[in-house]
Amino acid sequence: MGPLVVTRLLVLVSLTVALDDGLLRTPPMGWMAWERFRCDVDCKDDPENCISEDLFRDMADRLAEDGWKELGYEYVIIDDCWMSLLRDQGGRLQPDPSRFPGGIAKLARYVHDRGLKLGIYSDMGSRTCMGFPGTTLDKIEIDAQTFASWGVDYLKFDGCYSDPVEQMLGYPLMSKALNATGRPIVYSCSWPVYLGGLPPNVNYSLLGDICHLWRNYGDIQDSWDSVQDIIDWFSNNQDYLQPAAGPGRWNDPDMLIIGNFGLSVDQARSQMALWAIMAAPLIMSNDLRNLDNKARAILQNKAVIAINQDPLGIQGRRLLQEQSHVEVYWRPLSHSASSLVFLSRRTDMPLLYHCSLHKLHYDPGNYEAYDVFTGTTVKGLNATTEFTVSINPSGVVMWYIYPLSTHNEPVHRRPSQLRVHRPGPDRHNVL
Ligand code: GLA
Repeated sequence: MGPLVVTRLLVLVSLTVALDDGLLRTPPMGWMAWERFRCDVDCKDDPENCISEDLFRDMADRLAEDGWKELGYEYVIIDDCWMSLLRDQGGRLQPDPSRFPGGIAKLARYVHDRGLKLGIYSDMGSRTCMGFPGTTLDKIEIDAQTFASWGVDYLKFDGCYSDPVEQMLGYPLMSKALNATGRPIVYSCSWPVYLGGLPPNVNYSLLGDICHLWRNYGDIQDSWDSVQDIIDWFSNNQDYLQPAAGPGRWNDPDMLIIGNFGLSVDQARSQMALWAIMAAPLIMSNDLRNLDNKARAILQNKAVIAINQDPLGIQGRRLLQEQSHVEVYWRPLSHSASSLVFLSRRTDMPLLYHCSLHKLHYDPGNYEAYDVFTGTTVKGLNATTEFTVSINPSGVVMWYIYPLSTHNEPVHRRPSQLRVHRPGPDRHNVL
């Protein structure tokens, strides 16, 4: 790349305007192919599970028919391995013709007809991570136009096979190119992952200006170890990451793996709880056609979803790491409410954990809590008195907690009145 080209690109980059476009005022919810279905392109021997239009139609059907959409799960997101190995004669990306014979525009219509939205994947670089055609700097505009012309609503822009200079140019340029299409398209940037995820290499204020969400850290795998590693990394670095999030700009610790093979029921609750505390995207990667009822109940827990989707959009934090291997997480919510998660990192037996709200920096006064996984109400909480929770190994207790007036009435509302704030006609309240 010559210096003139670089200068022209830099000028374009500096013209990029803040992404205050009303998209993703709360974290996105939906389904994504990658963690569960990877790069299975073997439609001959594995037709049910290969990356094909049938798979995405199946998942759209399930989201629309099994109660997911009403809870807010609305994006059906194609990941890597959808492309043909060659661009078309006009230089446009095209789907693999045998696995997506109807094309992406038709698939988008199918998804839209069910009240859902379609996401797609491409890669800032010479190839996608799995070796399909990449979006080099000169292809950014045409790819953005192609996605918009197909009716795509969400782009995951990965960063394999590019260097930091190309990424510095390419990620802002794609933001501008998507804006220029005139179609509202959510822009998910994997850029931070490729820079180690932390300042000074990562500029979170720039990211918030150009992307709606971003992957900060490595890929989730189907195991509790992987979930713990992600929780630890995000919590150890929360002073950098937590202030970066807010309406329209979210950290993305990666997909929910609940309903797959690697997590126990307690561990699945822990992932759901922590993702809610972190104001993380609730993007499942599982097989919605074969989901057991326990996984379904966790993923469809209205109170946890409402906490995740709180309209204030303040990401939570780890407050405590106890010697006993209990950790306490907290997220402030609208209407003076908040959420607390008590996570046990033990591997022996349920632990009786004693604590007080005062120790967790709550103001003096009386409170009530709704235990979101048992559906019970914890009454008689006073900031200074001790309470006890029993936490299963690698499990959580999660509370929605709200202050009471001097007459012991909720200052604002009881959890049964808690609503997910969903702007727009196609969104529904939950709880
Ligand atoms: C990277 C991303 C994953 C997935 C794969 C696809 O590893 O982080 O989420 O998109 O590429 O190849």
